[in-house]
Amino acid sequence: MFSKLTQRPIFTILCRRVHASIHSAPTTLTQKTQEEPLTSNYVFEREERYGAHNYHPLPVALERGKGVYVWDVEGRKYFDFLSAYSAVNQGHCHPKIVSALRSQAEKLTLTSRAFYNVELGEYEEYMSKLFNYHKVLPMNTGVEAGESACKLARKWAYTVKGVPKYKAKIIFAAGNFWGRTMSAISSSTDPSSYEGFGPFMPGFEIIPFNDLPALERALQDPNVAAFMVEPIQGEAGVIVPTEGYLTGVRELCTKHNCLFIADEVQTGLARTGKLLAVDHENVRPDIVMLGKALSGGTYPVSAVLADDEIMLTIKPGQHGSTYGGNPLACRVALAALEVMEEEKLAENAEYMGQRLRAELMKAPSDIVTRVRGKGLLNAIVIKETKDCDAWKVCLRLCDNGLLAKPTHGHIIRLAPPLTISEDELQECIDIIHKTLLSF
Ligand SMILES: Cc1ncc(COP(=O)(O)O)c(C=O)c1O
Repeated sequence: MFSKLTQRPIFTILCRRVHASIHSAPTTLTQKTQEEPLTSNYVFEREERYGAHNYHPLPVALERGKGVYVWDVEGRKYFDFLSAYSAVNQGHCHPKIVSALRSQAEKLTLTSRAFYNVELGEYEEYMSKLFNYHKVLPMNTGVEAGESACKLARKWAYTVKGVPKYKAKIIFAAGNFWGRTMSAISSSTDPSSYEGFGPFMPGFEIIPFNDLPALERALQDPNVAAFMVEPIQGEAGVIVPTEGYLTGVRELCTKHNCLFIADEVQTGLARTGKLLAVDHENVRPDIVMLGKALSGGTYPVSAVLADDEIMLTIKPGQHGSTYGGNPLACRVALAALEVMEEEKLAENAEYMGQRLRAELMKAPSDIVTRVRGKGLLNAIVIKETKDCDAWKVCLRLCDNGLLAKPTHGHIIRLAPPLTISEDELQECIDIIHKTLLSF
């Protein structure tokens, strides 16, 4: 077991590839007149010049989206195989979600939680019944759901479990990703997330993922409040744990009176072929974090689910967010959840995912060394050579009309919107094979 406070990580430099050098005078950013159409290069250069350099996008400038497709400013059409990191499960600009957004935006958008609003209760009731938890804590981004889950776990540890004041510990799995706040990076094992941002949050410990004996050892400490884990590690490269791992986590957490927090921000809401990824093993975590697809990619909406014994440890004034639970978010989330159910997205993800993996297994083994995933959360592992790596494959996929993004250098996540049809999937499989064979 190790903690960020004692770790001595190897420093890795975040390498940023610049599309076009614009480090000289402002005049190098080609002036655009009103009549001139936008060009991709103009979009790249303007962002590069005026935006913080905290991302390294593929060189494609998107303007429009519909279903599984996006179009760039020059009108080129692409399949979206990232789905905004699984936020666009319902497909781009789903008409039902957009219509809910529009109509609520004209009525009432934000009241703050200083007052009641008529939409919040309906949304909370729907969520509580759908996921079978007593209560919902509404937030905005996924990382806020994680922060809220950690706060709930600490409060529960002090007020219910009886952990001495400020001695509570939260255990995380190596390779986790739950966002970019100080707490989230304090539990990260990825140097590009945490290096240079210390000092880190105390009371966090990290154990290997998919390792029940390590969890059992960690849980010997009576001050452990919770174990937070992704049922499938998304950002780490779609790492699927051994069957039985989640059942084992549930049993160990129960045995040692520690909360099981499932980070379902990326895996939840039908992405892996079930409503929640923990449903594959029929386990019920104590706390569930949701985000991303809770709005179908239209608006930041996240939530934490828990029963009263945990949720009610936080009293009025002890936690909140100006935008959390606002009427616009509630209506959008209700529509996004309805689409997920009405269009049977979990079933489609399960079926299409099996087909996709079966076809990807046929890729040349000297290029693709592994195919893994569940539902439509999948990844291929690329064998790196001087001519071929995940970034180069993604650039060529982009040229061939499919957008995907490397994670960790040699892994490509393949996660289209869950609305994808059989014909569309076949077209994508053909693009992927053609691209891989071109190396
Ligand atoms: C598993 C998981 N949890 C939490 C987050 C954080 O979500 P957000 O970027 O909305 O803060 C992410 C984002 O990728 C994620 O993949």
